[in-house]
Amino acid sequence: MQCNVYLQKGSDAYAKLAPNPRIHMHSYIRAPLFCLILLASLGIAAGARAAETLDVLHWWTSQSERKAADAIAEALADEDVTWRDAAIAGGAGVGAMKVLKSRVLSGRAPDVAQLIGPNIQEWADLGLLLELDGVARKNNWNTAFFPSIWSLVRLRSHTAAVPLGIHRINTLFYNRRVFNELGLTPPKNWNDFERVANRLQHAGITPLAQSSEAWQVTTLFETLLLSESNPAFYRQLFMSNSDRAWFDPRVSRALERLRSLKRWMGEPVTEKSWDSIARQFAHGEIGMWVMGDWAKGELQTMGMNVDDQFSCLPVPGTADYHLYSVDTFVMLVGDYDHEIAQEKLARLATSPAMQIHYNQIKGSVSVRRDADPRQMDSCARSSWQTFGRGAQVQAPSLTHRMASNEQLKDAISAQIHRYFLDDTIAISETQRRIAALVRALANRKAEP
Ligand code: GAL
Repeated sequence: MQCNVYLQKGSDAYAKLAPNPRIHMHSYIRAPLFCLILLASLGIAAGARAAETLDVLHWWTSQSERKAADAIAEALADEDVTWRDAAIAGGAGVGAMKVLKSRVLSGRAPDVAQLIGPNIQEWADLGLLLELDGVARKNNWNTAFFPSIWSLVRLRSHTAAVPLGIHRINTLFYNRRVFNELGLTPPKNWNDFERVANRLQHAGITPLAQSSEAWQVTTLFETLLLSESNPAFYRQLFMSNSDRAWFDPRVSRALERLRSLKRWMGEPVTEKSWDSIARQFAHGEIGMWVMGDWAKGELQTMGMNVDDQFSCLPVPGTADYHLYSVDTFVMLVGDYDHEIAQEKLARLATSPAMQIHYNQIKGSVSVRRDADPRQMDSCARSSWQTFGRGAQVQAPSLTHRMASNEQLKDAISAQIHRYFLDDTIAISETQRRIAALVRALANRKAEP
């Protein structure tokens, strides 16, 4: 068993415990049960300044994710609320969603949970989520947020979630040192990309990073699909339950490119966590990487700076579009005894100052329209300004739960993953399989 106790930096408790080599100091203390005993023996009640505790379930366990979560936890501690961490490792929340469901079903719901996309509406419909109407009204969320962010957190005139940041998925990272050494120009289209990849390969550098983890493969696929089409088709494919759309030549071309890019990924493509790829990228082993801009946060935490050691570009063919995922927290109702602390968290996390601070660490951009682009690096500015152009340029990420329900996402993802791993599966076969799944899961007859 572990106790996670947040201690205010500069407080008596922090000062007394910091020099103790047996306790691993983070921004908060995470140590075995003895930390409670120790605190008591030091005459300090655990969380002495903290009147209330919120149990927060999320999937941020990489260095930068951890640091971004800590930024919110620290601000919360200043308001006498303890953030008790219940982080579940696994990129894209693969494990966390399962844990969240099982905790809710067994009556041990957390107070706060990372819950994304249409799931918010489903959970709100079940009456599980606290309405945050008062906080939203007092802080003018209706005008402060981008319209699509505001509608994401609304359900039948009530506010059901707290938006934290907008991630851009169609991001191509490139290593500036490697590019400079080889005299390479960052690729703006697929022909450039092929030329650059070829040069990198000849220089003994893996041109394109990729893991074989299903969510990372689907993250690349959805980006390629957008590159071959546009946000309107993207939405039709992932959100309208149209099985016929899966036979469109734009889908075939995206699948074809997914397969053909394999030759730039190094052999064999193995299962690697996204943050371990970030480390390889930082060591100069990789030239380019298509990944959501949480990777920017991770590279920064490792000491790399935007437009210094690395830069980002929109993936070829997607410069005018924003393939996005919005991180959101929901507050679980429970027996309404944490409402005040939950509202504090909602207000703090969306305040102008916290939006700048948190998103700078996390790699995402502010959900607020009044953010100042001059305070953003070039990746963030491009993301925030593109997103600001409105729904016609925005494509909600399937992989990151913005487009469909879990079931459909998992079914599509499994087929794309299979196709990626097995070169003998024909493109048309994958299209047929997915169309059949869409038909079955949408529970209706084939379209004429
Ligand atoms: C996304 C999430 C990001 C980041 C990423 C990798 O789904 O929105 O915040 O954590 O997964 O785990």
